Amino acid sequence: MNDVLNVVVDGLFRQGDKNLAVRLVAANGEPLPDWQPGAHIDVHLPCGLIRQYSLTGESTTESYLICVAQESASRGGSRYIHQTLRPGQTLMISAPRNLFALRDDSPVLLLAAGIGITPLYAMLLQREATGAPFTLHYFVKRRKEAAFVRELSRSLTHGVCLIHCSSEGKSPRQTLAATIPAPGDGERIYTCGPAGFMAAVREVAAARGWPEAQIHSEAFAPATPIVTSQQEETFTITLASSGEKWPVPANKSIAQVLQDNGVAVPLSCEMGICGACLTPVLDGVVDHRDTVQSAAEKTAATQHIALCCSRSHSRDLVIDL
Ligand code: FES
Repeated sequence: MNDVLNVVVDGLFRQGDKNLAVRLVAANGEPLPDWQPGAHIDVHLPCGLIRQYSLTGESTTESYLICVAQESASRGGSRYIHQTLRPGQTLMISAPRNLFALRDDSPVLLLAAGIGITPLYAMLLQREATGAPFTLHYFVKRRKEAAFVRELSRSLTHGVCLIHCSSEGKSPRQTLAATIPAPGDGERIYTCGPAGFMAAVREVAAARGWPEAQIHSEAFAPATPIVTSQQEETFTITLASSGEKWPVPANKSIAQVLQDNGVAVPLSCEMGICGACLTPVLDGVVDHRDTVQSAAEKTAATQHIALCCSRSHSRDLVIDL
């Protein structure tokens, strides 16, 4: 992976009773790379795991802030950060990568659930600082689980923030329809949270007349488990630069086949959620299985493929590598 940065854990802060905010500063004391709300970083944990976390808080280069939920079904990253990570510890991270950036200054409706608040909290702060209008609806199971409650409860000049608690009778199922009005002129929705929540947002928004292109989302986990089964068809992957081609069997991803043949592939999440491996497609019909690209991007004239998880509907696929 390119652009690995050495950072030091500068502080750990409890955010609600299930989240831990982690402040990171550059180990060499220099400013960190600039970033915009919606960006995420890869965190290389000493336990050998690499995890993606959205940057949150104010968009500053002095330090980065991430906030990690304590997951009962943790695959190891959340558990390590909550139980083992300590101030002063050094870590490696990637430079910020942003596939969820605010598109323009038009009004935004921000819809967060659970730890999905992290990128949207950064968006709220930027909108408040620049005077651009916003509305944030933040859904949590219980109020004591919400992150950044104190910050979100202060009075805002350019928008409003409402926290909805399932334990108080305001679950997404009960209130989502009332929080998504018909779209205003140029208005956009940005949503982040569990896959089911974001699917519900898209369903309600579509019923209200929101165009698909004005709804932007970021997933923390693949919408459906990504598996390669023996029923998959073998197809051929071709590199446009050299003309080299290899079969991609049912039990291997394109990325694995390329790596087996000495081709460097920029992998990160390996689940189709981070966008690190997106590569332009020059010929063929992609069987898209990532959740990082929108439906519009997956049907555009010029397409990208997530090499870690997507496959091909056509017998041959030519990629711009
Ligand atoms: S490595 Fe993250 S989308 Fe492929």
